[in-house]
This record gives sequence, C-alpha cells and structure tokens, in this order.
Amino acid sequence: MQAGVFKEAVNFSINDIKDKQDPTRVLMCSPDYFDIVDVKNVHMEGQIGNTDKELVNAQWQSLKQVYDDLQSKGVLDEVSVLPGAPGCEDMVFCANQTFPWKMEDGSEVVVMSKMRHESRQREVPHFEAFFQQKGFKPLHFKDVKMFEGMGDVISHPEKRLLYGGYGHRTTAEAYNELAAMLQTPVVALELINPKFYHLDTCFVPLSVDSVMLCKEAFTEQGLKMIQQLFRHVYYIPEHEAEAYFSLNAHAFKAHGTKTAILQKGSTETVAALKQEGYNVVEIDTAEFMKSGGSVFCMKMMY
Ligand code: ARG
Repeated sequence: MQAGVFKEAVNFSINDIKDKQDPTRVLMCSPDYFDIVDVKNVHMEGQIGNTDKELVNAQWQSLKQVYDDLQSKGVLDEVSVLPGAPGCEDMVFCANQTFPWKMEDGSEVVVMSKMRHESRQREVPHFEAFFQQKGFKPLHFKDVKMFEGMGDVISHPEKRLLYGGYGHRTTAEAYNELAAMLQTPVVALELINPKFYHLDTCFVPLSVDSVMLCKEAFTEQGLKMIQQLFRHVYYIPEHEAEAYFSLNAHAFKAHGTKTAILQKGSTETVAALKQEGYNVVEIDTAEFMKSGGSVFCMKMMY
C-alpha cells in the first residue's frame, strides 16, 4: 500500500495494509496551569472560571495512578510527566500538540501540530523538546494551517493505516502533507458535529476488526469507508458519547493486555469494551470535561 489520502472512498482492504507494533509508553502533562479562560469548543460554553483546583488535581492524579499501576504490572513500558507551563491553560490535553510515529525502517519521528488557537500554539515547543530528548526526529508542516495531532489522527490497531478527522481543528489538506511525511495511507474523515470536534471524541478503534463510534459525528461517505475497513462497528448513542465523553476512552492493547480507561457513567460503551475483552477502568474526569476533554486527550502514547 502506498502513501496517499482517501477522502471519498477506499479502494483497498485492511489485508492490503502492513502490520505494525503499537506503542507502549505514555506521556502526561500535569495540570498546574489548567483553567477555562475562553470557549474553544461547545463544551466550554458557560464554564469560564468554573474549575475547582483541588478536584482538578485529584482527578488528574487518579488517571496518573492508573497508568503507574499499569507500568508496575509490566503492561506499559514507561510513564512520563511534562510539567504544565504558565499561560498554557489547555496543555494538560497532551494528545493534541504532536503526532509521534514509527517509520517502517524503525526510526521514530514526531509531527508538530499547528494548533487552531493561539494560546495552544505555545504548548507545542514543550512537546517538541520532550520528543527530541527521547530521540524522535521532529517533522514540521510546510503549508498547513491547522493540525491537532493525535486529537484528530488515530491509527488502525496493529496496522500502518491512519484515520484523520477534519473540519474543526485540522484541515483536510493537512493529510496530503501528513501522508507524504509519514509514508502512510490516511483515510480522511469529515467531522460534521460541533460536539465531536476532534476525531478522538467520537471514534475508538478496538482491534484490527472492530471500532466503536458515534455515527452522528460523520458523513455517509466517512461511515462507508470505516465500515469497509473494520469488520464490526459498535454504534454508541450520541447522548452517551456526549454526556460521558465515552468515545474519548483510552482503549489500547500493550504487551498482550487490553485496557480501557474512561469517564464513569456510560453503559453501552462499557458493554462494547467488555465484549471486546477489555479490562475496563472507570474514573472521574468531570473537571476536564468542562473544557471538552477526557481520558484520551489527557495522555499521549508513543
Ligand atoms: N479545551 C481544549 C481545546 O478545546 C480541549 C482539548 C481536548 N482534546 C482532545 N483531544 N479532544 O482545545
């Protein structure tokens, strides 16, 4: 399979795609300067100044504890924390500033995001420095206006295939440069619902064969491409994905163990995860949901 972008239809099957190993390391960013100072997405409406610092810290620590426990059990290889920076109120959402990727020759690269909002653009160099120190080669877009990293780009499990959301925080054109830089096919999916402004709010691949999603977030064309590439699709009701950010679950397989961490309260999402053999960990991320993010947004895997 060659690099390229598929926007309307796919002319290949998942069996045509090369295998890859999925990441086993987690990066978090501490919420030292987390705050709601403006409205970057519809979830933030009416929430300016409405955060409780103690709850913020307690909820973030409970997620960190889950990852630390997974590391001590040998499920994760490493858990790192980058300190938050002053003036970067959204930096805790560390899925957005970069997209790390292992090339076919084994070399590690990291694509630097072009954040839509000015305050978030300041976050990016902190992550570039982190990945450089880990030995990743930073890659920069030449001619792209918006690209929000792993908020919008999610990999097919175990395959060298990417799904890229566009319309709110990433432009469709970004995927031409991304596919060329990473030498990987990209299935570009238009996001049409403002509640689901990043792909990671509405689309959770669970295995080579299955994915869960909220169909109200996508176009007919997009759904058709997804249905062609995954044998089974779990359709999660919009109210559940919205109320609990349940499709911002972090569902991953590392060292043979399947773990899913998500905001507590959803039923159909948890049932789908259990059906797929996941160990489900439910936590409270209510303070972060006010800013439009939950578990998946609060970590980077590389
Ligand atoms: N307040 C942040 C923003 O609007 C939330 C980002 C959530 N991240 C995510 N990957 N969905 O930019």
